[in-house]
Amino acid sequence: MNIILLGYGKMGRTIEKVALDRGHKIVARIDIDNASDFDGVSGDVAIEFSHPDAAFDNVKKCIEKRLPVVCGTTGWLSRKQEIEMLCKKNDSTFFYASNYSLGVNIFFKVNEYIARMMNNLAEYDIALDEIHHAEKKDAPSGTAITLAEGILNNVKRKKKWVNQRTGKPEDLFIESFRIDQVPGTHIVKYESAIDDLEIKHIAHSREGFAKGAVMVAEWIKDKRGIYTMDDFLKF
Ligand SMILES: NC(=O)c1ccc[n+]([C@@H]2O[C@H](COP(=O)([O-])OP(=O)(O)OC[C@H]3O[C@@H](n4cnc5c(N)ncnc54)[C@H](O)[C@@H]3O)[C@@H](O)[C@H]2O)c1
Repeated sequence: MNIILLGYGKMGRTIEKVALDRGHKIVARIDIDNASDFDGVSGDVAIEFSHPDAAFDNVKKCIEKRLPVVCGTTGWLSRKQEIEMLCKKNDSTFFYASNYSLGVNIFFKVNEYIARMMNNLAEYDIALDEIHHAEKKDAPSGTAITLAEGILNNVKRKKKWVNQRTGKPEDLFIESFRIDQVPGTHIVKYESAIDDLEIKHIAHSREGFAKGAVMVAEWIKDKRGIYTMDDFLKF
């Protein structure tokens, strides 16, 4: 499979390593300095891990070329619906996941399951912690937002997520920590006067995200339409 990398930073480089190990070829490495090179390249699939300000344009260009695109960039999702409409109009292919790690996707499902059980247990307050390296551009993390949505869709007493502590019981507080050299960590916390319950995921390296993204690229390259991890994993 011929892969075009859009964004050649920490994730782009890890994806390259995983893709080569799986027998694929990288036909272009597009980053901010050579963005115009994208116009002249062709491949089977693009994998986009760049910057929140760049993702929309990068994905749009792929869709207009009808090049299947696997996108992992976080922090640009207010424009995701525009991309989905464009994808339908062009009969193209768009895959988005806030997190490509298989372990995190199991964590998402466990989170929804616990949230459903906690819906009627109002004595528990709910909060999330997310801890990432200091260079991360967006807060809260895309993964924390997906976890928060899993709770908001299932627990009626929580109305919206907030990233600053408000003290309002209807707000779901996501606390973001940015610390040098830490593994990405997400914790969902249920706390009551009687007991606390927590679920936690720690990513030990970027390889889990990269492997998931390459596996998705292998799966999607001949498909048309809009897909998510639920379609890929069939949980
Ligand atoms: N979905 C997931 O599983 C997952 C996992 C890890 C990281 N991420 C996200 O992926 C993104 C990239 O993460 P990273 O750790 O590689 O960041 P990084 O800062 O190491 O790399 C980003 C790269 O994108 C480049 N870039 C900026 N503008 C560009 C443009 N217009 N065209 C092409 N490239 C451009 C930068 O120069 C840089 O090399 C972030 O949004 C991060 O949150 C998602």
